[in-house]
Amino acid sequence: MTIQLETNRIILREFMLNDLEDFHSLETNEAVVKYLTNYPKRSLEESKELLNQVISQYSNFKTGRLAMIDKATQGFVGWCGIKFNNHKRHVYENFYDLGYRIHPNYWGNGLATEASVACLNYGLNELEILKINAIVNTQNTQSLKVISKVGFNYKESFLEDETEKHWYEVKRK
Ligand SMILES: CC(C)(COP(=O)(O)OP(=O)(O)OC[C@H]1O[C@@H](n2cnc3c(N)ncnc32)[C@H](O)[C@@H]1OP(=O)(O)O)[C@@H](O)C(=O)NCCC(=O)NCCS
Repeated sequence: MTIQLETNRIILREFMLNDLEDFHSLETNEAVVKYLTNYPKRSLEESKELLNQVISQYSNFKTGRLAMIDKATQGFVGWCGIKFNNHKRHVYENFYDLGYRIHPNYWGNGLATEASVACLNYGLNELEILKINAIVNTQNTQSLKVISKVGFNYKESFLEDETEKHWYEVKRK
């Protein structure tokens, strides 16, 4: 079964390989990657590898980063979703995290918030994940606002790549 979520304004659906151009345009947008410390400049081929990893999460975990599509125009807005993270971040490993990236043309309209609410509801209430985390660069005001609007609790701060990050969690009720 494929994953598809719907909000007032957007469809969240699984990425496909033919989304590569849109996916790559976010990976290489300077405003979008500004607060992602030490983020590599990816070639199209490297974005393709990453996109393949994104796609592989769906069957393994029934969740992952989902493409956000504007219902009114069918335009590509960005992505949002809960992925299973098996890389070590600070002292944490093997956790679910919420992430999002929106094309700057769509910023400031509440779309990341709207998509995050839908993804968290899916993760906590349908998949019955007990706990979801989020990591945000403390300079990233927009992302901090989203996190605070969708029910996360601040747990601690830590340094990663010489940058201060906040660690958040939300638990299934
Ligand atoms: C973080 C991001 C997803 C937010 O997307 P969005 O759709 O604009 O988010 P929302 O509109 O739901 O909320 C953004 C909030 O930041 C506010 N905001 C917008 N621009 C801002 C700015 N330059 N400075 C401070 N706040 C700003 C908005 O007013 C809104 O707050 P409000 O609801 O209190 O008014 C988007 O900025 C993005 O893709 N950034 C680059 C990728 C990234 O940083 N991802 C997160 C990594 S942790």
